Amino acid sequence: MIATEILVLIITVLVFGYYFSTKKPKNFPPGPRPWPLFGNLFQLKQNQLRHEQFDALGKKYGDIVGLYFGSKAMVILNNPKHIKEAFAEHVFSGRDISNLIKDRNLGGNRGVLLCDGPAWQEQRRFALKSLRDFGFGKKSMEAIIMEEVNELIAGFKSQHGTPVTTQNRFNIAVLNGLWAIMTGERYSHDDPRLNHLIRGLTATIAKRPLSSVLADLFPIVYHMRKTFPSLFTITGGVFQKETYKLIGETIKSHQETVQEDSPRDFLDVYLNEVKKTKDPQSSFHGEDGILSLRVTMLDLFVAGAETTSTTLSWAFLILALHPEIQEKVHEEIKKVVGLSRHVSLTDRPDLPYLEATDMEVLRYSSLVSTGQLKVVPVEGEVKPTLAPRTLSSIVLMPTEHKLVILDRQVA
Ligand code: HEM
Repeated sequence: MIATEILVLIITVLVFGYYFSTKKPKNFPPGPRPWPLFGNLFQLKQNQLRHEQFDALGKKYGDIVGLYFGSKAMVILNNPKHIKEAFAEHVFSGRDISNLIKDRNLGGNRGVLLCDGPAWQEQRRFALKSLRDFGFGKKSMEAIIMEEVNELIAGFKSQHGTPVTTQNRFNIAVLNGLWAIMTGERYSHDDPRLNHLIRGLTATIAKRPLSSVLADLFPIVYHMRKTFPSLFTITGGVFQKETYKLIGETIKSHQETVQEDSPRDFLDVYLNEVKKTKDPQSSFHGEDGILSLRVTMLDLFVAGAETTSTTLSWAFLILALHPEIQEKVHEEIKKVVGLSRHVSLTDRPDLPYLEATDMEVLRYSSLVSTGQLKVVPVEGEVKPTLAPRTLSSIVLMPTEHKLVILDRQVA
């Protein structure tokens, strides 16, 4: 008899526990029912592209879909109009700085890529201005790019008639260009250290192990990271460690030779900014400023190299699969530029077919398929079309007209 009562009690507790732990808040957008503790995490397949799964959910549940990652609520926007509106709202510019990201950012909210709030604003404004001053996005960068292009072409020519893996070659060329602007130095494309770093970068970006996702959700998993580092990043953190080492060495050699009145590169300008910053609240102040410099350099390294070179690989693949387009691009270049010199930025207005092809490659490759996690640092009203209530933390994942909002404290 007592056993039956205990059984009934256990079943009742389980049923209520299940009901309350998976109950969605009022107004939460439609979506699959979450499991207790893990939410919808295991309903998303590890071996299928995220945006394809979001597409399928969009077809089933509509333009705005609600999901849970553990206890974190997530809203996917499937409509370009909503995504555009979200990007126009300042409230959507925060980021989800998990403990793993803090470790990666040398223990703080640093850099430009995985950082938010006043530190991000300061670093972003400074990086944009200083990189532009040193030619980023301008005609003066062309000479740096052409140096890389020439070595790239020589490399391809040396392998004429044999299959070539493009990704690492593009990565090295793009990274060298960025590195030259940042530090005034460039490496040979065969440099073993650079090749080693690039392979590490590609492996790190290619996959985010499930353990890293779980570490964001459960502190106990996070605390296992030092005992089992290879479970958390594909390279066991080696890429990060070695890149920080290279960055540290380069900063040190610049600190020994920097001159206040004639900065040679981005790194010199940054060091001068750290020197003249007296406000202890600033992300450029003192030792903290040097840590921010290290993270910002890593960010530019990661954000610039892999994205641009993967886009180039897509361009090559698409042109190889569509020889008729390749032929048209070639004809336009032959007609406008001729075959005796390289294409230059100044030719751009006269090469509309080439430009349209570039745009189509960007559209088709849709590279950052799950975008970047973003969290609103303070409570803020979000337009009713986006989410019909107050959000306290959100994640944006723009992809092929898709945007994901994560909200940890849905009202
Ligand atoms: C085809 C090439 C590229 C693609 C597809 C791409 C894509 C993206 C995307 C989707 C974001 C996230 C935007 C957001 O959610 O706020 C981003 C941010 C960023 N990218 Fe790129 N990117 C490319 C090239 C570059 C290059 C060459 C650099 C560096 C020099 C760079 C530096 C950054 C930085 C610093 C951020 C963070 C910006 C911020 O916090 O406001 N990217 N990129």
